[in-house]
Amino acid sequence: MPLKLEPVSEKFVALVRGVDLREPLSGEDRDAIVAACDTYGVLVFPDQLLSKEELVAFGNSFGEVDTTLQKKLMHRIQNRLGMDTVTDISNVDAEGNVAGAEHWQTITTVGNRFWHSDGSYKDLPIRYSILNAVTAVGYGGETQYADLRAAYDSLDDVTRELIAEKVGIFWSHNTRDWLHIPDSEEERSAFPKVKWPLVRTHPGSGRKVLWCDSKVYAIEGMSIPEGRALTHELIEHIGQREHVYSHKWKPGDVVMADNRCTVHRGRRFIHSERREMRRVETVDDVHSLGPA
Ligand SMILES: [Fe+2]
Repeated sequence: MPLKLEPVSEKFVALVRGVDLREPLSGEDRDAIVAACDTYGVLVFPDQLLSKEELVAFGNSFGEVDTTLQKKLMHRIQNRLGMDTVTDISNVDAEGNVAGAEHWQTITTVGNRFWHSDGSYKDLPIRYSILNAVTAVGYGGETQYADLRAAYDSLDDVTRELIAEKVGIFWSHNTRDWLHIPDSEEERSAFPKVKWPLVRTHPGSGRKVLWCDSKVYAIEGMSIPEGRALTHELIEHIGQREHVYSHKWKPGDVVMADNRCTVHRGRRFIHSERREMRRVETVDDVHSLGPA
């Protein structure tokens, strides 16, 4: 059966059917998925219950799978899945029980509830984030995706002019610092701050993106308060309903997002419900402007 696309809207998010992600991808299907992701930014593959290894193999079809976050930070918490290539996005403790609100595994994922592009704080960021739901919760727990291309297109002229040449300083622990998550100095400096232009071009579609998220610590050439207020405004603009797709998870869903043109956030859920997802990330090939 050929791969079949069902766009959710004309230029953002498509459902993909007619492919079994447990099997190695044909070159044709791989190229079709890349082209679809270039256009739609987010692809939803329903009914794909993958093993960890199958998820990694799917990710590897699109480039090197990232291991830096696991090795530098996540394994300090727990390593339930036992792999450097798969991130455990869950409220499950090392023994497999649902972790409560006070558990470190739960606390450390609170930062995911703020708009971000995976790896925006890295010199070499993430291209694709691929999430696979193992279990889904009844209330909340959606992942929302926002289109940074549409967000750029809908800026007013004065704001577009203001940010045209601006450079943001991105920091891995920006949100965690604000949330008062008590990380060590070693953890806080695991990923040195990097600089990115606030306006970039998405190579997949050739469209400009508003490159701003919750990792922005400061904007060069602006006072800290003015830069942070502008960052807050830009993130609010990005998160407007017309730029956003909200995904309500079902077990077996795979969602592949292009971080070069989207941001996302997880929504609140009830801690006693088991929410278990696995994530694989592929490494991009475009470096930041360098250390801040
Ligand atoms: Fe994320």
